[in-house]
Amino acid sequence: MSSAVLDSSTGAWPAGRRITISDLQAATDRGERWSMLTSYDVLTAGVFEQAGVRALLVGDTSAELVLGYPSTLPVTMDELISMTRAVVAGTRTALVVADLPFGSYQAGPEVALANAVRHLKEGGAHAVKLEGGGRVVPQVRALVAAGIPVMGHLGLTPQSVNVLGGMRRVQGRGDAGERLLADARELQRAGAFAVVLESVPAELGNRVSAALRIPTVGIGAGPGCDAQILVWQDMAGLTSGRLPRFVKPFGTMRADLEAAARQYVAEVAAGSYPDPAHSYA
Ligand code: KIV
Repeated sequence: MSSAVLDSSTGAWPAGRRITISDLQAATDRGERWSMLTSYDVLTAGVFEQAGVRALLVGDTSAELVLGYPSTLPVTMDELISMTRAVVAGTRTALVVADLPFGSYQAGPEVALANAVRHLKEGGAHAVKLEGGGRVVPQVRALVAAGIPVMGHLGLTPQSVNVLGGMRRVQGRGDAGERLLADARELQRAGAFAVVLESVPAELGNRVSAALRIPTVGIGAGPGCDAQILVWQDMAGLTSGRLPRFVKPFGTMRADLEAAARQYVAEVAAGSYPDPAHSYA
């Protein structure tokens, strides 16, 4: 929750105020790569901001990672708004982007606008994200016209899991790469301030990043993107099992948390916790 990380040696990031979409664009324009993480709660939001993460996504991945749903599809606006409020409360400087969940924008610009307005009014978000290319351009235009910053999302779009035929397929190979590039251009023309590229070949990540003026935010799109995003539980080593190739755990949180819980269970069983130092006289 401190602004210290923003007073970095470059002095390029603003101190003591919220980062805006113009700040993110300016960083990209000067060739500075910046980081995003997902966050769904007040504590992790504060930690990530402190670490220098410039923007946080209250992603619909919370459906699976927080709420235990089998996919991202069931999470509701109300659920995401509660989490967005917590992330905004935990931060002073990070830009908070809230996901528009499945069913909250596909029907058209009017419903998209109503739900995006809820994210800003009730959740306190500073921007919203939605999935898709040309087919969501009318929605992007309507939101931007209403003063709502929009982040696009192309490549592997989990809300379309049932037409993509699974969650592990790399997208954008062959002709699909040309279509993705065209979609990215359309999103930029419609006024999107950034585009997430998920699970696409690194070469396509490079091409889209070179073609667009707005920042590309890669997740499994190679090192050529202007920014990177990871699901925080993947970044911290809390998730387990078979993870996508692009996930690099930067911590050992699952093992650390389990070890702490085991120690607690053992000390309670042995009667050594609480000891006098942790008891009231
Ligand atoms: O919901 C989410 O967490 C996302 C990221 C994976 C980009 O969309």
